[in-house]
Amino acid sequence: MQKICITGGNKLRGSVEISGAKNAALAILPAAALSDGVCRIENVPAISDINLMCKLLQDLNVKVKMINKNTIELDPRNIQCSIASYDLMRNIRASCYLLGTLLGRFNESNVYLPGGCDFGTRPIDQHIKGLSALGAKCTIDGGLIRAKSEKLKGTNIYLDVVSVGATVNIMLAAVKAEGMTIIENAAKEPHIVDLANFLNCMGADIFGAGTDVIKIKGVKKLRGVTYSIIPDQIEAGTYLTAALATGGEITIKNVTPRHLESITAKLKEIGAKIYEYSDSIRLISGEKLKKCNVKTMPHPGFPTDMQPQIAALLTQAEGTSIVNEAVWDNRFRYVEELRRMGANISVDGRLAVIEGVSELTGAAVKATDLRAGAALIIAGLSAKGETTIENISHIERGYENIIEKLKNLGADIKKIKQIDYESEVAGL
Ligand code: UD1
Repeated sequence: MQKICITGGNKLRGSVEISGAKNAALAILPAAALSDGVCRIENVPAISDINLMCKLLQDLNVKVKMINKNTIELDPRNIQCSIASYDLMRNIRASCYLLGTLLGRFNESNVYLPGGCDFGTRPIDQHIKGLSALGAKCTIDGGLIRAKSEKLKGTNIYLDVVSVGATVNIMLAAVKAEGMTIIENAAKEPHIVDLANFLNCMGADIFGAGTDVIKIKGVKKLRGVTYSIIPDQIEAGTYLTAALATGGEITIKNVTPRHLESITAKLKEIGAKIYEYSDSIRLISGEKLKKCNVKTMPHPGFPTDMQPQIAALLTQAEGTSIVNEAVWDNRFRYVEELRRMGANISVDGRLAVIEGVSELTGAAVKATDLRAGAALIIAGLSAKGETTIENISHIERGYENIIEKLKNLGADIKKIKQIDYESEVAGL
């Protein structure tokens, strides 16, 4: 096992290439399994969640070939409607997309309840509601979701909550269903648009992705295509936030600035100067960081996946900031770790009150989930002294090459071997 070791205080400077979007790739790889030909997917981030998704697809007999570290070729022509491994599924939330994929392809799917980051309850009632409306009989038994239909038929589906996962699953099942499916109150995230663009390249007939009404006219066949994934706006937002926390100046490259508007708007409020170009953004830190209130919301609101990172930044801002987590019920578990570093944050339910400026000092902390890990890195970069972060497998789930990218920006950061005291004691 390894941990990350950071000596704080260096201002981030220079430029960094942003990788492909994790959450788009995690929807597009299973979508490729609906195709009647071979798909080549480019700009796929080299992260462990993608490795897991590839293993899941291989378990279903999809041929997966790595062309290079960011390009994957998928040949689903001999895909089987079997049950993918429980051990793989429980580690990744997006494994539930196989429900829509297999149902769309075979009119049947059997998938274990998904895992992923623990933000409190993560229901799938809206996925089931949508697939049932399309004509699938869905049951959950012993942790296994079974969905079966004679034939899927297009219909109107109104989502009671805006759900990325339910929108993706319904799109995957409906793309080859008979007739027209209309998803109302659909998620509008950039990765929903990317999935629709990918499916349309394969021959699907999807209209309205990016608005809250998505219309899907079922087609009989989907062809193999070559497609490039959009840049990751959360990875991009994380580097911008880290640069501002250290008082630095950076340019992020290979981004779509429009996807980052809710994030850059807040960074400006906190004190950054932001310059947007066609596919890059430059951030220059101001003299001081100012307090700011943030409420997370579905796109185009401020993304919940940037909430821990901005909270870490706000510990360094003057005054009292309030962060309202309006998407998940339990996404402040990292606060305890930031407190070890000297942060002054109190949490009441879905509200965190951050008193700045706290002088952060390096400490030994643990990543409680993916974005919590990113927040600890940001805190470590701006803290005095040395911070060590355990449980870095969470961070590696979603950030390609983060150590090298930060080093190139001037951070003093490395991976070191973690002594496994438990096994040492067990071996005594
Ligand atoms: C996806 C992202 C995750 C992000 C989240 C919100 C992936 C792989 N993960 O997760 O990083 O934090 O979007 O932007 O893309 N809900 C229900 N019933 C359902 C489904 C969801 O009530 O059937 C609720 C959830 O409890 C939550 C809200 O809807 O409060 C949003 O969840 P959803 O958009 O579905 O998140 P995921 O797709 O799981």
